[in-house]
Amino acid sequence: MDKLLITGGRPLEGTVPISGAKNAALPIMAATLLASGVHTLRNVPRLRDTRTFARVLELLGAKVAFDGNVCTIDSTGVNSVEAPYELVKTMRASIYVLAPLLARFGAARVSLPGGCAWGPRPVNLHLSGLQAMGAALDIEHGYIVGRDVKLIGGRFGFDVVSVGATAQLMMAAVLAQGTTVLENVAVEPDVTALGDALVACGARIEGLGSRNLTIHGVATLKPIDATIIPDRIEAATFAAAAAMTGGRLRLERVVPAHFEAVLRKLEEAGSTVERAPDAVTVTGPSRPRAVNVVTQPFPGFPTDMQAQMIAVCALASGTSLIEDTVYLDRFTHVPELARMGASIELRGNVAVVRGVDRLYGAPVMATDLRASASLVLAGLAANGDTLIDRIYHLDRGYETLEKKLGAVGARIERIS
Ligand code: UD1
Repeated sequence: MDKLLITGGRPLEGTVPISGAKNAALPIMAATLLASGVHTLRNVPRLRDTRTFARVLELLGAKVAFDGNVCTIDSTGVNSVEAPYELVKTMRASIYVLAPLLARFGAARVSLPGGCAWGPRPVNLHLSGLQAMGAALDIEHGYIVGRDVKLIGGRFGFDVVSVGATAQLMMAAVLAQGTTVLENVAVEPDVTALGDALVACGARIEGLGSRNLTIHGVATLKPIDATIIPDRIEAATFAAAAAMTGGRLRLERVVPAHFEAVLRKLEEAGSTVERAPDAVTVTGPSRPRAVNVVTQPFPGFPTDMQAQMIAVCALASGTSLIEDTVYLDRFTHVPELARMGASIELRGNVAVVRGVDRLYGAPVMATDLRASASLVLAGLAANGDTLIDRIYHLDRGYETLEKKLGAVGARIERIS
């Protein structure tokens, strides 16, 4: 199993090109099932998760080809409606195929994803939302099963803001018969990007980017030709790397507004941030200051940056409180950071981070994608060598991470 060896203590300086967003690419890949034909997705990040999603589509009968970051999906020959447990358990986002299959074929058999490293992560909103649109779904032997489904417009209000369930119901509503009203939807850029891609191929969606959507179903959609938006979490992770190492990084091909909440926190912690229309330059302080953070749905501070922010605060002067209100248990990085000398106390869903003068390199273990990113950040700033095990988690979400870090001065090496 691959490991990453990082020799820390060097400020990162230079330019980092930011890749396409994993969380925008996956639902748009699923949406190619809605229309028969050849779809072209550009700026798709080459990651384990996009490969896994391609595999799911292939199992359904689609033909998927990558040429660099251009992904061509021919969904003409889709002839199966089953997404098997073996794939869904490795990537929860596979559940995105549920609505498109119901919309196009009136049937689906999709494995329930089960738990994940940071808690139960239910899919009840996906199911009750689809049921509100006329889909009678059963749970049979661990699978969500729909037969003879005819989607009809309905009204559904979210009691919890959910990225995944919003995307799922948008995909159901665009081909449903009649009008669907969705209330209190997620407005993450990834969701809006899916909406934009659907509108470009003929969907009728009103209110994109707002908390309420009105979707008028259409009979058919044209194939998608879309460019995936920049990955705001990758960009924010590199911004944190500059902040934490006292470096200066220019992040190119980004939409600064997509990670403004993170940039503001890094400024509060002492970084200087220069914003251009499609680039951001972050200059870190000699030592960050403590900041308090509460994660929230967009446009709030993203839960996907909570772990990385804890790493920054681990080295800050003063005590920071980092609260995750989206995922209450998402703290598996805390004991690993403690192995590197961080002083962090968990009180429920709040991490009390008492900044220390130095972190020290240590062997540590990655437990999930963003937890791994926080260990990389800590390793870049630590004294000595950090050896990170189980980095397949990183490969799920960061395209050529060690190459990008190496190009801006990090001493980082993948060991097979
Ligand atoms: C997506 C992102 C993930 C990010 C998360 C929150 C993808 C592929 N993944 O995950 O990186 O951390 O958004 O920004 O885009 N919930 C329910 N019932 C449901 C669905 C969700 O109670 O049916 C709850 C969850 O437990 C959580 C909250 O809603 O507390 C938000 O989860 P959600 O936005 O759905 O996350 P995902 O779409 O799974």
